[in-house]
Amino acid sequence: MIGVAGLGYWGPNLARNFAELGALSWLCDLDEAQRNEFAARYPTAQITGSFEELLAADDVTAVVVATPVPTHYALAKQALEAGKHVLVEKPPAMRAAEIDELVALAAERDLVLMPGHLLLYHPGVRKLKELIDSGELGDVLCVYGNRQNLGIVRTNENALWSLGVHDLSVILYLLDEEPEECVAHGRDFLTVGVEDVVFCYLRFPSGKIAHMHLSWLDPHKMRKITVVGREKMVVFDDMELERKVTVYEKAPWKRTDSYGEWQTRSGDIFIPKISTDEPLKLECQEFLRLIRGEGDRRKVAEDGARVVRALDRLTESLGG
Ligand SMILES: NC(=O)c1ccc[n+]([C@@H]2O[C@H](COP(=O)([O-])OP(=O)(O)OC[C@H]3O[C@@H](n4cnc5c(N)ncnc54)[C@H](O)[C@@H]3O)[C@@H](O)[C@H]2O)c1
Repeated sequence: MIGVAGLGYWGPNLARNFAELGALSWLCDLDEAQRNEFAARYPTAQITGSFEELLAADDVTAVVVATPVPTHYALAKQALEAGKHVLVEKPPAMRAAEIDELVALAAERDLVLMPGHLLLYHPGVRKLKELIDSGELGDVLCVYGNRQNLGIVRTNENALWSLGVHDLSVILYLLDEEPEECVAHGRDFLTVGVEDVVFCYLRFPSGKIAHMHLSWLDPHKMRKITVVGREKMVVFDDMELERKVTVYEKAPWKRTDSYGEWQTRSGDIFIPKISTDEPLKLECQEFLRLIRGEGDRRKVAEDGARVVRALDRLTESLGG
Protein backbone atom coordinates (compact mmCIF):
# COMPACT_ATOMS: atom_id res chain seq x y z
CA MET A 1 0.00 0.00 0.00
CA ILE A 2 1.07 3.56 -0.75
CA GLY A 3 1.96 6.47 1.54
CA VAL A 4 1.96 9.93 -0.06
CA ALA A 5 4.31 12.56 1.43
CA GLY A 6 3.67 16.19 0.48
CA LEU A 7 0.09 17.43 0.18
CA GLY A 8 0.69 20.87 -1.30
CA TYR A 9 -0.27 21.62 -4.90
CA TRP A 10 0.67 18.38 -6.69
CA GLY A 11 0.61 15.67 -3.98
CA PRO A 12 -3.23 15.71 -3.72
CA ASN A 13 -3.47 14.63 -7.38
CA LEU A 14 -1.27 11.62 -6.63
CA ALA A 15 -3.26 10.85 -3.46
CA ARG A 16 -6.54 11.01 -5.43
CA ASN A 17 -5.27 8.63 -8.09
CA PHE A 18 -3.89 6.07 -5.64
CA ALA A 19 -7.13 6.29 -3.65
CA GLU A 20 -9.12 5.63 -6.83
CA LEU A 21 -6.85 2.66 -7.53
CA GLY A 22 -7.59 1.35 -4.00
CA ALA A 23 -3.93 1.62 -2.95
CA LEU A 24 -3.76 4.67 -0.64
CA SER A 25 -3.06 3.86 3.02
CA TRP A 26 -1.08 6.79 4.49
CA LEU A 27 -0.71 10.55 4.02
CA CYS A 28 2.07 12.76 5.36
CA ASP A 29 2.71 16.51 5.45
CA LEU A 30 4.66 18.77 7.77
CA ASP A 31 1.81 21.30 7.70
CA GLU A 32 -0.99 20.71 10.20
CA ALA A 33 -3.64 22.60 8.21
CA GLN A 34 -2.92 20.39 5.18
CA ARG A 35 -3.15 17.27 7.34
CA ASN A 36 -6.51 18.31 8.77
CA GLU A 37 -7.93 18.97 5.31
CA PHE A 38 -6.80 15.61 3.95
CA ALA A 39 -7.77 13.63 7.06
CA ALA A 40 -11.34 14.75 6.38
CA ARG A 41 -11.08 13.91 2.67
CA TYR A 42 -9.61 10.40 3.17
CA PRO A 43 -11.06 9.13 6.49
CA THR A 44 -9.73 5.59 6.00
CA ALA A 45 -6.11 6.70 5.49
CA GLN A 46 -3.66 7.11 8.38
CA ILE A 47 -2.18 10.58 8.57
CA THR A 48 1.06 11.87 10.06
CA GLY A 49 3.38 14.88 10.17
CA SER A 50 6.44 12.65 10.47
CA PHE A 51 8.11 11.08 7.43
CA GLU A 52 9.86 8.66 9.84
CA GLU A 53 6.49 7.45 11.17
CA LEU A 54 5.31 6.93 7.58
CA LEU A 55 8.40 4.82 6.85
CA ALA A 56 7.94 2.80 10.03
CA ALA A 57 4.39 1.76 9.11
CA ASP A 58 4.23 -1.96 8.23
CA ASP A 59 1.37 -1.50 5.80
CA VAL A 60 3.37 1.03 3.71
CA THR A 61 5.26 -0.85 1.01
CA ALA A 62 5.83 2.18 -1.21
CA VAL A 63 6.21 5.91 -0.74
CA VAL A 64 5.38 8.82 -3.03
CA VAL A 65 7.59 11.89 -2.53
CA ALA A 66 5.73 15.04 -3.64
CA THR A 67 7.59 17.52 -1.47
CA PRO A 68 9.68 20.51 -2.70
CA VAL A 69 12.54 19.61 -5.08
CA PRO A 70 15.48 20.26 -2.69
CA THR A 71 14.10 17.56 -0.32
CA HIS A 72 13.71 14.81 -2.97
CA TYR A 73 17.13 13.19 -2.73
CA ALA A 74 17.21 12.96 1.07
CA LEU A 75 13.62 11.68 1.42
CA ALA A 76 13.94 9.18 -1.45
CA LYS A 77 17.19 7.88 0.06
CA GLN A 78 15.59 7.53 3.50
CA ALA A 79 12.65 5.64 1.99
CA LEU A 80 14.88 3.26 -0.01
CA GLU A 81 17.00 2.61 3.08
CA ALA A 82 13.78 1.73 4.93
CA GLY A 83 13.05 -0.86 2.21
CA LYS A 84 10.21 1.04 0.50
CA HIS A 85 9.61 1.41 -3.22
CA VAL A 86 9.71 5.08 -4.24
CA LEU A 87 7.87 7.27 -6.74
CA VAL A 88 9.62 10.62 -6.51
CA GLU A 89 8.33 13.73 -8.21
CA LYS A 90 10.36 15.38 -10.92
CA PRO A 91 13.23 16.06 -10.81
CA PRO A 92 14.14 13.12 -8.53
CA ALA A 93 17.41 14.79 -7.51
CA MET A 94 19.36 17.95 -8.26
CA ARG A 95 22.79 16.49 -8.91
CA ALA A 96 24.07 13.60 -11.04
CA ALA A 97 25.96 12.15 -8.07
CA GLU A 98 22.76 12.12 -5.98
CA ILE A 99 20.64 10.30 -8.55
CA ASP A 100 23.43 7.82 -9.29
CA GLU A 101 23.52 7.02 -5.57
CA LEU A 102 19.73 6.54 -5.44
CA VAL A 103 19.77 4.29 -8.52
CA ALA A 104 22.55 2.15 -7.01
CA LEU A 105 20.67 1.90 -3.71
CA ALA A 106 17.44 0.87 -5.44
CA ALA A 107 19.29 -1.75 -7.54
CA GLU A 108 21.10 -3.16 -4.50
CA ARG A 109 17.80 -3.61 -2.64
CA ASP A 110 15.79 -4.51 -5.74
CA LEU A 111 13.35 -1.65 -5.10
CA VAL A 112 11.45 0.51 -7.56
CA LEU A 113 12.79 4.05 -8.00
CA MET A 114 10.44 5.78 -10.40
CA PRO A 115 10.70 9.49 -11.24
CA GLY A 116 7.38 11.32 -11.73
CA HIS A 117 7.96 12.23 -15.37
CA LEU A 118 4.29 12.71 -16.15
CA LEU A 119 4.66 13.28 -19.90
CA LEU A 120 6.14 9.81 -20.42
CA TYR A 121 2.68 8.42 -19.60
CA HIS A 122 0.84 10.81 -21.92
CA PRO A 123 -0.86 8.77 -24.67
CA GLY A 124 0.32 11.40 -27.22
CA VAL A 125 3.97 10.93 -26.24
CA ARG A 126 3.47 7.15 -26.30
CA LYS A 127 2.21 7.58 -29.86
CA LEU A 128 5.38 9.50 -30.81
CA LYS A 129 7.48 6.68 -29.38
CA GLU A 130 5.45 4.09 -31.28
CA LEU A 131 5.89 6.03 -34.55
CA ILE A 132 9.66 6.30 -34.01
CA ASP A 133 10.22 2.70 -32.87
CA SER A 134 8.09 1.20 -35.64
CA GLY A 135 10.33 2.92 -38.21
CA GLU A 136 7.38 4.80 -39.70
CA LEU A 137 9.22 8.14 -39.54
CA GLY A 138 12.39 6.67 -41.04
CA ASP A 139 15.67 7.59 -39.35
CA VAL A 140 15.09 10.33 -36.81
CA LEU A 141 17.30 13.34 -37.55
CA CYS A 142 16.32 15.84 -34.89
CA VAL A 143 13.82 16.56 -32.14
CA TYR A 144 12.94 19.89 -30.58
CA GLY A 145 10.72 21.04 -27.76
CA ASN A 146 8.94 24.36 -27.27
CA ARG A 147 7.71 25.14 -23.76
CA GLN A 148 6.96 28.84 -23.68
CA ASN A 149 4.38 31.04 -22.01
CA LEU A 150 3.93 34.43 -20.43
CA GLY A 151 3.68 32.32 -17.30
CA ILE A 152 4.16 32.38 -13.57
CA VAL A 153 7.49 34.09 -12.93
CA ARG A 154 9.36 31.77 -10.59
CA THR A 155 12.01 33.11 -8.27
CA ASN A 156 13.59 29.92 -6.93
CA GLU A 157 13.73 27.59 -9.95
CA ASN A 158 14.93 28.58 -13.45
CA ALA A 159 13.20 27.75 -16.73
CA LEU A 160 15.58 24.84 -17.33
CA TRP A 161 14.57 23.03 -14.13
CA SER A 162 10.97 24.15 -14.01
CA LEU A 163 10.04 23.67 -17.69
CA GLY A 164 12.98 21.81 -19.22
CA VAL A 165 12.71 18.70 -17.09
CA HIS A 166 9.47 17.79 -18.92
CA ASP A 167 10.82 18.12 -22.47
CA LEU A 168 14.18 16.62 -21.59
CA SER A 169 12.52 13.50 -20.14
CA VAL A 170 10.50 13.15 -23.37
CA ILE A 171 13.46 13.74 -25.73
CA LEU A 172 15.64 11.18 -23.91
CA TYR A 173 12.75 8.68 -23.79
CA LEU A 174 12.11 9.07 -27.53
CA LEU A 175 15.76 8.79 -28.60
CA ASP A 176 16.82 6.38 -25.82
CA GLU A 177 20.41 7.64 -25.87
CA GLU A 178 22.60 9.55 -23.45
CA PRO A 179 23.61 12.90 -25.00
CA GLU A 180 27.34 13.38 -25.57
CA GLU A 181 27.04 17.17 -25.75
CA CYS A 182 24.75 19.36 -23.62
CA VAL A 183 24.89 23.13 -24.08
CA ALA A 184 22.52 25.72 -22.60
CA HIS A 185 22.39 29.48 -23.01
CA GLY A 186 20.00 31.70 -21.10
CA ARG A 187 19.40 35.00 -19.34
CA ASP A 188 17.96 36.03 -16.00
CA PHE A 189 15.97 39.06 -17.14
CA LEU A 190 13.63 39.39 -14.15
CA THR A 191 15.15 37.75 -11.08
CA VAL A 192 18.92 37.82 -10.66
CA GLY A 193 20.36 34.31 -10.93
CA VAL A 194 17.09 32.68 -12.11
CA GLU A 195 17.10 32.26 -15.90
CA ASP A 196 13.67 32.91 -17.39
CA VAL A 197 14.70 32.30 -21.03
CA VAL A 198 16.84 29.24 -21.87
CA PHE A 199 17.90 27.64 -25.16
CA CYS A 200 19.43 24.15 -25.03
CA TYR A 201 21.30 22.07 -27.60
CA LEU A 202 21.92 18.33 -27.26
CA ARG A 203 23.92 16.07 -29.53
CA PHE A 204 23.75 12.26 -29.33
CA PRO A 205 26.33 9.58 -30.23
CA SER A 206 24.13 8.48 -33.18
CA GLY A 207 24.45 12.00 -34.65
CA LYS A 208 20.85 13.00 -33.82
CA ILE A 209 20.45 16.46 -32.38
CA ALA A 210 17.82 18.09 -30.13
CA HIS A 211 16.87 21.57 -29.02
CA MET A 212 14.67 23.04 -26.30
CA HIS A 213 13.28 26.58 -26.10
CA LEU A 214 12.17 27.17 -22.50
CA SER A 215 10.74 30.48 -21.42
CA TRP A 216 8.09 32.23 -19.35
CA LEU A 217 8.72 35.51 -21.20
CA ASP A 218 7.01 34.75 -24.47
CA PRO A 219 3.87 35.78 -26.38
CA HIS A 220 3.10 32.15 -27.30
CA LYS A 221 1.69 29.50 -25.01
CA MET A 222 3.39 26.45 -26.45
CA ARG A 223 3.87 22.88 -25.24
CA LYS A 224 5.11 21.16 -28.31
CA ILE A 225 7.54 18.44 -29.35
CA THR A 226 8.51 18.08 -33.02
CA VAL A 227 10.27 15.01 -34.41
CA VAL A 228 11.87 15.21 -37.86
CA GLY A 229 12.40 11.87 -39.56
CA ARG A 230 13.76 11.09 -43.01
CA GLU A 231 10.39 9.70 -44.16
CA LYS A 232 7.84 11.62 -42.06
CA MET A 233 7.66 14.36 -39.47
CA VAL A 234 5.41 14.45 -36.42
CA VAL A 235 4.27 17.07 -33.93
CA PHE A 236 2.89 16.47 -30.42
CA ASP A 237 0.99 19.58 -29.35
CA ASP A 238 -0.30 19.43 -25.79
CA MET A 239 -2.24 22.70 -26.21
CA GLU A 240 -4.52 21.04 -28.76
CA LEU A 241 -7.61 19.23 -27.55
CA GLU A 242 -8.29 16.97 -30.52
CA ARG A 243 -5.10 17.17 -32.62
CA LYS A 244 -2.57 16.12 -30.00
CA VAL A 245 -0.46 14.34 -32.61
CA THR A 246 -0.11 15.29 -36.28
CA VAL A 247 1.89 13.20 -38.73
CA TYR A 248 3.17 14.99 -41.83
CA GLU A 249 4.17 12.99 -44.88
CA LYS A 250 6.82 15.56 -45.67
CA ALA A 251 10.37 14.53 -46.40
CA PRO A 252 13.45 15.24 -48.44
CA TRP A 253 14.15 12.93 -51.38
CA LYS A 254 16.51 12.63 -54.30
CA ARG A 255 15.05 12.33 -57.79
CA THR A 256 16.87 9.72 -59.81
CA ASP A 257 16.65 11.87 -62.97
CA SER A 258 17.98 15.09 -61.42
CA TYR A 259 21.70 14.40 -60.85
CA GLY A 260 21.20 13.70 -57.12
CA GLU A 261 19.69 17.05 -56.23
CA TRP A 262 17.59 17.16 -53.06
CA GLN A 263 13.89 17.85 -53.47
CA THR A 264 11.09 17.93 -50.91
CA ARG A 265 7.99 15.78 -50.97
CA SER A 266 4.71 16.85 -49.33
CA GLY A 267 1.97 14.26 -48.93
CA ASP A 268 -0.96 13.67 -46.59
CA ILE A 269 -1.35 15.02 -43.10
CA PHE A 270 -2.69 12.46 -40.67
CA ILE A 271 -4.18 12.91 -37.18
CA PRO A 272 -4.23 9.63 -35.23
CA LYS A 273 -6.76 9.15 -32.44
CA ILE A 274 -5.15 9.62 -29.05
CA SER A 275 -6.79 8.24 -25.92
CA THR A 276 -7.89 10.80 -23.34
CA ASP A 277 -6.78 8.66 -20.37
CA GLU A 278 -5.36 10.84 -17.58
CA PRO A 279 -1.54 10.62 -17.79
CA LEU A 280 -1.23 10.77 -13.99
CA LYS A 281 -3.52 7.76 -13.58
CA LEU A 282 -1.38 5.86 -16.12
CA GLU A 283 1.76 6.91 -14.22
CA CYS A 284 0.30 5.66 -10.91
CA GLN A 285 -0.78 2.39 -12.53
CA GLU A 286 2.75 1.94 -13.91
CA PHE A 287 4.19 2.42 -10.40
CA LEU A 288 1.87 -0.30 -9.04
CA ARG A 289 2.82 -2.58 -11.96
CA LEU A 290 6.55 -2.11 -11.26
CA ILE A 291 5.96 -2.85 -7.55
CA ARG A 292 4.20 -6.09 -8.56
CA GLY A 293 7.36 -7.09 -10.45
CA GLU A 294 6.00 -6.34 -13.93
CA GLY A 295 8.04 -4.19 -16.34
CA ASP A 296 11.70 -3.24 -16.06
CA ARG A 297 12.20 -1.38 -12.77
CA ARG A 298 15.95 -0.94 -13.34
CA LYS A 299 15.44 0.76 -16.70
CA VAL A 300 12.86 3.14 -15.24
CA ALA A 301 15.35 4.23 -12.54
CA GLU A 302 18.24 4.46 -15.04
CA ASP A 303 16.15 6.55 -17.44
CA GLY A 304 15.39 8.93 -14.58
CA ALA A 305 19.09 9.22 -13.81
CA ARG A 306 19.83 10.05 -17.44
CA VAL A 307 17.50 13.06 -17.21
CA VAL A 308 19.16 14.38 -14.03
CA ARG A 309 22.65 13.86 -15.51
CA ALA A 310 21.69 15.88 -18.61
CA LEU A 311 20.06 18.59 -16.46
CA ASP A 312 23.19 18.77 -14.36
CA ARG A 313 25.39 19.18 -17.46
CA LEU A 314 23.05 21.79 -18.96
CA THR A 315 23.09 23.70 -15.66
CA GLU A 316 26.89 23.69 -15.63
CA SER A 317 26.96 25.01 -19.17
CA LEU A 318 24.35 27.67 -18.36
CA GLY A 319 26.41 28.99 -15.47
CA GLY A 320 29.67 28.96 -17.45
N1 LIG B 1 4.46 16.21 -12.66
C1 LIG B 1 3.97 17.43 -12.70
O1 LIG B 1 3.40 17.85 -13.69
C2 LIG B 1 4.13 18.31 -11.52
C3 LIG B 1 3.34 19.47 -11.38
C4 LIG B 1 3.54 20.28 -10.25
C5 LIG B 1 4.47 19.92 -9.29
N2 LIG B 1 5.22 18.80 -9.47
C6 LIG B 1 6.26 18.42 -8.48
O2 LIG B 1 5.64 18.09 -7.26
C7 LIG B 1 6.50 18.42 -6.17
C8 LIG B 1 5.74 19.27 -5.16
O3 LIG B 1 5.40 20.50 -5.77
P1 LIG B 1 4.21 21.38 -5.20
O4 LIG B 1 4.01 22.48 -6.19
O5 LIG B 1 3.06 20.49 -4.82
O6 LIG B 1 4.90 21.97 -3.86
P2 LIG B 1 4.15 22.62 -2.62
O7 LIG B 1 5.16 23.50 -1.98
O8 LIG B 1 2.83 23.18 -3.02
O9 LIG B 1 3.86 21.39 -1.63
C9 LIG B 1 4.85 20.68 -0.98
C10 LIG B 1 4.26 20.10 0.33
O10 LIG B 1 5.27 19.25 0.91
C11 LIG B 1 5.22 19.43 2.31
N3 LIG B 1 6.52 19.01 2.86
C12 LIG B 1 7.71 19.64 2.75
N4 LIG B 1 8.69 18.90 3.34
C13 LIG B 1 8.08 17.77 3.80
C14 LIG B 1 8.55 16.63 4.50
N5 LIG B 1 9.84 16.49 4.83
N6 LIG B 1 7.67 15.66 4.84
C15 LIG B 1 6.37 15.80 4.52
N7 LIG B 1 5.85 16.87 3.85
C16 LIG B 1 6.71 17.84 3.52
C17 LIG B 1 4.91 20.91 2.51
O11 LIG B 1 4.35 21.16 3.80
C18 LIG B 1 3.91 21.15 1.37
O12 LIG B 1 2.57 20.96 1.80
C19 LIG B 1 7.71 19.13 -6.79
O13 LIG B 1 8.72 18.20 -6.96
C20 LIG B 1 7.22 19.56 -8.16
O14 LIG B 1 8.28 19.57 -9.12
C21 LIG B 1 5.04 17.99 -10.53
